[in-house]
Amino acid sequence: MPTPQELVDTMLDMAGVTGEDLLIDLGAGDGRVVISAAHRGARAIGVELDPGLVELAKTNAAAAGVSALTEFVTADIFEFDFSSASVISMFLLPELTLRLRPTLFDLRPGTRILSNTWDMRGTETDPEARGWDPDQTIVLDPCPGFCTAHVWTVPTKVAGTWRLDDGRLLHLTQRFQQVAGRLESGGSATEIFGGRLDGTTLTFGANGVDHTAEVDQAAMRGTTGTGDNTNSWRAQRVP
Ligand SMILES: C[S@@+](CC[C@H](N)C(=O)[O-])C[C@H]1O[C@@H](n2cnc3c(N)ncnc32)[C@H](O)[C@@H]1O
Repeated sequence: MPTPQELVDTMLDMAGVTGEDLLIDLGAGDGRVVISAAHRGARAIGVELDPGLVELAKTNAAAAGVSALTEFVTADIFEFDFSSASVISMFLLPELTLRLRPTLFDLRPGTRILSNTWDMRGTETDPEARGWDPDQTIVLDPCPGFCTAHVWTVPTKVAGTWRLDDGRLLHLTQRFQQVAGRLESGGSATEIFGGRLDGTTLTFGANGVDHTAEVDQAAMRGTTGTGDNTNSWRAQRVP
């Protein structure tokens, strides 16, 4: 069952795929996602267990005139290193999607992940458990067979304690892209609210003010407030 072309196009739009990207399709089937990404100028690799499908995908890519931008590999996705991708796409059985989740979460922050239909909520024993919620879901109407597309952006890791340059401490916990914690100043602490990561961008509210920061491993560069009331701040990770 391939992804309907309309849904492939929607997924690539959601990830904003361009000629700057390397897309890797995990379970490439007849190659349509890889070929569509190449039509947008991206380099694209399809990983597929079935050698017959790999040959079909290569033939389809040649017929579409995108052989130079595409590659198809006969391999098991659980043994293939896809860490160089800037975009991952998949349309896999739910249990395979969930098995991939830890590896996908450890990809480079900012990597976009696309999935037809199956999301990364739940666990293998409890499908209703909270998991990694999609950042965006689009459902096509009318439905061309399969109609639900999800996108995630791999968040950077922020859990731990950060010292702001004014001495305050920011204690953070993280569950996928959701961030909670407290801002501590001279013995008193306020909870942060609405904490969220979009790749390397952290946003949260504290003391009634919006905070935004770019996170670069051990350092954050942030702004607080909006318009004329914007202040800059920095923080370092406390080892
Ligand atoms: C539903 S098709 C999706 C094809 C294509 N990505 C699309 O969206 O149209 C899933 C594909 O994943 C392949 N597949 C399943 N498990 C795999 C694995 N462990 N390694 C590589 N490919 C796998 C299957 O052979 C099948 O071609």
